[in-house]
Amino acid sequence: MRVLHAQPEESISLFVSIVTGTRPQIIKSAPVIHALKQQGINYEFVHTGQHYDFELAQTFVNDFELTEPVNLHVGSGDYCFQVYATIDRLSTHFKKKRPDIMIIPGDTTSALGASLVGFKMEIPVCHLESGLRRYDLTVQEELNRRLIDHGSSALFAPTPVAAKNLEAEQVQGNVYMLGDTMYDVLKNRMNIFLEPKFQEKVLSKYDVSIGDYTIMTFHRREHVDLKSNLEQIVNAVNQLEFPIIFSMHPRTKKNLIDSNLEFNNPNLRVVAPLPYDEFMCLMANAGLAISDSGGIQKESYILGTPLVSLHNCTEWVETLKYGKHRLGELTTSRIVNDCRDLFGKRYQSDPSVYGDGKSAEKIPPILLSGEVQIPTKFRY
Ligand code: UD1
Ligand code: UDP
Repeated sequence: MRVLHAQPEESISLFVSIVTGTRPQIIKSAPVIHALKQQGINYEFVHTGQHYDFELAQTFVNDFELTEPVNLHVGSGDYCFQVYATIDRLSTHFKKKRPDIMIIPGDTTSALGASLVGFKMEIPVCHLESGLRRYDLTVQEELNRRLIDHGSSALFAPTPVAAKNLEAEQVQGNVYMLGDTMYDVLKNRMNIFLEPKFQEKVLSKYDVSIGDYTIMTFHRREHVDLKSNLEQIVNAVNQLEFPIIFSMHPRTKKNLIDSNLEFNNPNLRVVAPLPYDEFMCLMANAGLAISDSGGIQKESYILGTPLVSLHNCTEWVETLKYGKHRLGELTTSRIVNDCRDLFGKRYQSDPSVYGDGKSAEKIPPILLSGEVQIPTKFRY
């Protein structure tokens, strides 16, 4: 496996473009942006605008004190529109000033569109959070990340398993076992969201106490766009007897309205998507999390909050180690049984599978080393 540990030989003048489009992409890019800034690397932060609500985008730019991004205002639409609009607007933007290197986090439609621009314009692409596999191509994100991985020049793997997946697929770019930059964010902000006064304020705002409630969020297309699946989840939530704080994603909200499905659980409190620190504080103190989010699988594991996933498989296999992350079929009875079984069973995990909390700091030396080049096999 070409797992490299680059050292800069001399300082190279670079212009780096880091491109996000959604909430989790901004979060995982935040420490990378700070690392570029700290090393004095000339960079721009571009946001496609796939997510545009304040709660899904600007709030993170503000809270993480990021440079104001160049916004391409792609917005919502079907997959083809979003890929097309990202390609069109980003390539036009790059014609003004072409970056030497792109950094693209995650596996969203924005990530795919942006990487296609890099591949076509022969700008070396660094894929952040590379090598995740669920081996299910019906999941849009799986298709996106496989395409991005196979065209990328540098592949930043968050875990040894992800690096091994890339090795098995014989990707052409260089693989770097970096660690997970979402863990960097969590570690950096722990002193804020675990600060006793902050915790007291957040818990009293939602009228809950440590360990006696559930935090819930779900939004995946395969779970909420299909009424029969959404109905299984709604029916399960309606049967649960503990307080539930539900951070509702706009996709979920739209589908609940369109499908005429309703929650009738008096223990349920629905809230708009929350700022990072508030959400993490609630997860760190919850007796249980229910989710289909990728990021929350890692965060609940690191914080030791038991998790009932709506998925029946995961790319984040490390989270299964202690038996407190439960996967399974999307049926009302399975969800209810797993929630009742895991509620309150907080645990101690080993977060070192995600690195040392300083993964982003490893990126500038790699960029400055001159190693990030288009693989020869990709050239005419
Ligand atoms: C996207 C990603 C998903 C990621 C999620 C993070 C893809 C294929 N999916 O899903 O991998 O987990 O972001 O949250 O890229 N909407 C708003 N306001 C917004 C954004 C969206 O109301 O600011 C609504 C619109 O009705 C839109 C729908 O949510 O059609 C879905 O948004 P979209 O960005 O297409 O996908 P996500 O479900 O957010
Ligand atoms: N998150 C947040 N506020 C919320 C819900 C989630 O800040 O109300 C954070 C969460 O802590 C994690 C990220 O958003 O860092 C996960 O994003 P999402 O679930 O939208 O996407 P996924 O990880 O599934 O791609």
